[in-house]
Amino acid sequence: MDTIDTKLVKIDPNNINYEILTDAALIIKNGGTVIFPTETVYGLGADALNEEACDKIYRAKGRPSDNPLIVHISSMDELNKLVKRIPENAKIMADKFWPGPLTMIFEKKDIISKKITGGLETVAIRMPQNKIAKELIRLSGCPIAAPSANTSGKPSPTSAQHVIEDMLGRVDMIVDGGTCDIGLESSVIDITNEIPTILRPGKVTKEDIEKLFGKCNTDPAIIKSDENIVPRSPGQKYRHYSPKAELILYKGNLQKMVSFIKKDCNNYIKQAKKVGVIASEQTRKLYDNFNENIVIKVVGDRKNPLIIASNLFDVLRSFDSSKVDIILSESFDDNGIGGAIMNRLGKAASKKIELGKLKILFVCTGNTCRSPMAEGIMKNTAQQRGWDIEASSAGISAMGGDNASKNAVLALNKMNIDINSHKSRLINEKMLEDSDLIITMTNQHRDFLLRRYNNLENKIISFNIHDPYGGNYDIYQLCSEEIKREILNTVDKLMI
Ligand code: TXA
Ligand code: MG
Repeated sequence: MDTIDTKLVKIDPNNINYEILTDAALIIKNGGTVIFPTETVYGLGADALNEEACDKIYRAKGRPSDNPLIVHISSMDELNKLVKRIPENAKIMADKFWPGPLTMIFEKKDIISKKITGGLETVAIRMPQNKIAKELIRLSGCPIAAPSANTSGKPSPTSAQHVIEDMLGRVDMIVDGGTCDIGLESSVIDITNEIPTILRPGKVTKEDIEKLFGKCNTDPAIIKSDENIVPRSPGQKYRHYSPKAELILYKGNLQKMVSFIKKDCNNYIKQAKKVGVIASEQTRKLYDNFNENIVIKVVGDRKNPLIIASNLFDVLRSFDSSKVDIILSESFDDNGIGGAIMNRLGKAASKKIELGKLKILFVCTGNTCRSPMAEGIMKNTAQQRGWDIEASSAGISAMGGDNASKNAVLALNKMNIDINSHKSRLINEKMLEDSDLIITMTNQHRDFLLRRYNNLENKIISFNIHDPYGGNYDIYQLCSEEIKREILNTVDKLMI
């Protein structure tokens, strides 16, 4: 497309300069295009009732014409003019979440051209919260059609800098209103049927909607990665949110993700590829001193998924300037807004790797007291908490084939755990190699293994459990409780 002379302006959302915003509204009124901030991501806006103006949006983005646009409004009065009916559920949702990061699908009136609905009889409508966005719509005097202001396929822009990278010379005006709070696009919900259906997850979650109506469905195309299921939201069928480099998504518990990412990093580096890693506050230390050629970006704290959401697209885009060839990303808990985070990462990924169970090996000396107790407690805890863990144990000087000692069996009986069938095993290289995490009962056991075997540094940790051997039942019972405490402390942090 021909280059347009793009006007770049800045507006403080807390102290709006109405002269500038009125200019922006005039451009929209006259059939031009304006990029403006919303609380989710930046939007590329034009008069939703002007087909020619909307054509310009598709051209600027390079967007396929069957991918419909969201129409933004600033009052409920405008909604009546655009849609055939407003279902009761929609009124309840609007009351609760508008203005805000929610888009709802309605049956459209003829005033909305099929050109902007990708040929559909329905239209997506959202009332944004961001003050600049709201006032721009009001001043323009028309609903504003606005997709995310990225070139098609790239991550949505969450700062003016992102917009400038993609859109300078392609639109009439860019309004810089700072960074977007939420950082992920709105939730798209179909409320044309009695039970609402999520077509694109966002800040308004399934749990939020269930609170209102008891039930909420999710379009199967979002949850399953089966390419034969056609998503009901046309935009979801495209690969999306993609930085230039290929992205591989690792799914599993923390320890396992980190160990596989590191292993694969080494392989890619051998192939002379520049590697990027998406890590979290919880795992950043695990990559310390790992390899200085790897670009590690911390997307946020797992305990604060809102921050991860708001950083994600910026992190994805930043790999473009780091010029990495491949990005290996950790996964995140998919509850609440985590569902939206994982949806975007899933769309950005060209490959997903399911890592399966975390294999933990407990090690002590004879494999008759501490490590069989740890194995039993670990299996029991994993079962109760639904953790995908496979536990085993071995000893560095075990005889092999011995039962667990009588008091160890009795102490675990008290916890309702049966280790009667345990047989001791002497440790060997294969057991160590097959494990994702090795937990020794003391530092001495750990140091012994590190001296004797290679490549254990990244996956070995040590408890500090005294040897109860030869002690009475009470000593074993105390020992079992100590092991349980250590397991809960350590393993909880590894699971997501
Ligand atoms: O947060 C957001 O929603 C941002 C800001 C700018 O408001 N906008 C945005 O628009 O993300 P866009 O065009 O990038 O994504 C719109 C999504 C697409 O996945 C599209 O397929 C879906 O909404 N959509 C639009 N109209 C639809 C319809 N009638 N039925 C089903 N899905 C629809
Ligand atoms: Mg988009």
